[in-house]
Amino acid sequence: MNPLISPPQRFLTGITTTGTPHLGNYVGSIRPSVAASQGAGAESFYFLADYHALIKCGEPERIQRSTLEIAASWLAAGLDPECVTFYRQSDIPEIPELTWLLTCVTGKGVLNRAHAYKASVDKNEAAGNDADADVTAGLFMYPVLMGADILMFRATHVPVGRDQVQHIEMARDMAQRFNHMYGAHLVLPEALIEESVATLPGLDGRKMSKSYDNTIPLFATREQLKKLIAGIVTDSRLPGEPKAVEGSALFQMYQSFASESETTGMRQAYTDGISWKDAKTMLFDRIDQDIAPMRERYEQLMSQPLHIEDLLQAGATKARSMAIPLMRQLRQAVGLRRLGVANAGADAARQKTVKSTVPSFKQYREKADSLFYFKLLGADGSLLLQSRGYAAPRDAAVAIDLLQQQGAAALALLDQQLQFVEGVRTEDVLSALQLLANTSEAKQ
Ligand code: TRP
Repeated sequence: MNPLISPPQRFLTGITTTGTPHLGNYVGSIRPSVAASQGAGAESFYFLADYHALIKCGEPERIQRSTLEIAASWLAAGLDPECVTFYRQSDIPEIPELTWLLTCVTGKGVLNRAHAYKASVDKNEAAGNDADADVTAGLFMYPVLMGADILMFRATHVPVGRDQVQHIEMARDMAQRFNHMYGAHLVLPEALIEESVATLPGLDGRKMSKSYDNTIPLFATREQLKKLIAGIVTDSRLPGEPKAVEGSALFQMYQSFASESETTGMRQAYTDGISWKDAKTMLFDRIDQDIAPMRERYEQLMSQPLHIEDLLQAGATKARSMAIPLMRQLRQAVGLRRLGVANAGADAARQKTVKSTVPSFKQYREKADSLFYFKLLGADGSLLLQSRGYAAPRDAAVAIDLLQQQGAAALALLDQQLQFVEGVRTEDVLSALQLLANTSEAKQ
């Protein structure tokens, strides 16, 4: 089996266990994910990212509580652990193990450029503090742990918001780098950017987010829900005055739950001058219609934490049935092996894949004229390009750099210094240069 051939679509989503799910999480993440998981043919992995939670939260009770609340919310919303793999990150010891292997193929410079880390550094510098003040190594390593989450299960698609895209790209780079060094073991994941997914406005009209303190808990009681909805910011138009739907947080919230015809009805009601009080009652009724049955399940689940624990343990067993063999394979690949057990076959295969995927430049000095030369060899070792002689090795190196960085333009520029090899097409030279540029980028 070619290990790079994985099932056509495997989705994976992690939820950091630091808070209580709110309506924005439901509309933006839980509802679409549960719907996707019920689609035929999709294979889905959902996990509670509690190792990630430790990076930003030092309150043990809160992490435990949040883990329970998030698990109960997803289950209440219809996630079926029989159809998906639903587990807790910290139940999979192979994840931190893979994190280390990936740490060793990840450039520190790449992590320096991660948005979350950079934001902390920028903030410190703006405040005149040491760049790394209050930055833990955990925050710095966040993308590697996330890479391990994804690569461990050979996920092909990772649905994320825009802010997480960089992390998926980093995971891709880690996989590429690992495969380049040790052979084809890891699947390169893709970000599925959720453009169309609604972001729900919060009570104050800004995006609903814990950091703005404008949220409505997903499973607030009916009374709480009613009270919070009453507090949604509106304008001062009186009953009977026509109201604008544009910029109305209340309208957008309604739309996020309502059918198209219900939305049309609400639009009309705005034009007809519905009072804000009545509009809020309509919104409450509409949300509660969806949430009420789930709320009942949620409360039941919350009262049975041991039942949820059992489900998570079953999920962990399922997840580990994939993680354990992969980790065994990767340990073998990198050389963490039992002594006295030969692995010559795999090593030879690796050398072949590593060699056969990369063209290379060779620099050398010719005895006959004492000049410095270079040549470009194709992935199969064939000669693609031959330089003329240079007086100094540095000149040859400059030409190589130029070729690596500028491809076709450099070929034209260096025309006088190069001898094209008979029978070799320019396209082949260019694609070899392109391949080299890609792999050296992955190495940075
Ligand atoms: N970083 C994600 C967030 O903050 C959570 C997460 C952890 C995750 N590991 C993941 C998401 C792997 C997708 C895949 O939302």
